[in-house]
Amino acid sequence: MSDPTRPRGPKIISVANQKGGVGKTTTAINLSAALAEAGCRVLVVDLDPQGNASTGLGVETEDRKLTTYDLLLEDINLTDVIQETGVQGMGIIPATVDLSSADIELLSNEKRSFLLHDALRQPAMDAFDWDYILIDCPPSLNLLTVNAMIASDSVLIPLQSEFFALEGLSQLMLTVREVRQTANPKLRIEGVVLTMFDARNNLSQQVEQDARDNLGELVMETRIPRNVRVSEAPSFAQPVIDYDPTSKGAEAYRELARELMSKHMKIAA
Ligand SMILES: Nc1ncnc2c1ncn2[C@@H]1O[C@H](COP(=O)(O)OP(=O)(O)OP(=O)(O)O)[C@@H](O)[C@H]1O
Ligand SMILES: [Mg+2]
Repeated sequence: MSDPTRPRGPKIISVANQKGGVGKTTTAINLSAALAEAGCRVLVVDLDPQGNASTGLGVETEDRKLTTYDLLLEDINLTDVIQETGVQGMGIIPATVDLSSADIELLSNEKRSFLLHDALRQPAMDAFDWDYILIDCPPSLNLLTVNAMIASDSVLIPLQSEFFALEGLSQLMLTVREVRQTANPKLRIEGVVLTMFDARNNLSQQVEQDARDNLGELVMETRIPRNVRVSEAPSFAQPVIDYDPTSKGAEAYRELARELMSKHMKIAA
């Protein structure tokens, strides 16, 4: 960002929803991989102590010597925490369960809410030339998620096409508004993406209708279908577009990447 030849820098997107199991990690991994397939350079930041994004991208626990915990709480260089993934053009900062104590440890730090913001803007970042940074948030609106939102340009919200899907969304929107008012005025809602959608199921259709009625254009056109290949891929340490390139899940994440990129081109124009 400090490089005048790249005034726009990477787009930083938090993938967030305090509800558990709605498809945050799946979306962070597969949208990133689809963006990389389209030629973008993408960094995934695993900000969840569960470390599911790290596992899903094949970073074994014993290879997580330096993690987002170190990035936030120790004075270390970005270059030391970023690892390559099996996907060309895609890197990851992994996480371990250590991160679960960060929330408490951060409380004594004056800059506690801005640590990720500052870390991702270290001058060393310019050399990586990322187009996108996707942050996989934990299922909570804690200090880690607030760090992600303060570091980000926008928030992408996966919404599981299930009963109670919209419950809790107002709390999430309130947090976004608070972050915008206090620390990051440019924070946008990137969109709400329906996940695990089943077109044959009335409930999925009802959730989509409710979401579109309540949230209007914030709801992305692309819906991610429930697809068994998507759920199998992490155990093979691969994004679904590599694991099964022609599956419905792979197609949907490619479509989501296209929708996102075309939106950004329109904003930039
Ligand atoms: N499109 C899909 N089709 C089938 N299964 C899916 C799909 N998306 C996600 N899943 C499965 O649903 C479960 C939850 O997904 P995921 O881990 O991405 O959610 P999460 O929001 O990151 O969860 P947490 O809140 O625990 O971090 C996983 O087992 C995942 O494989
Ligand atoms: Mg997750």
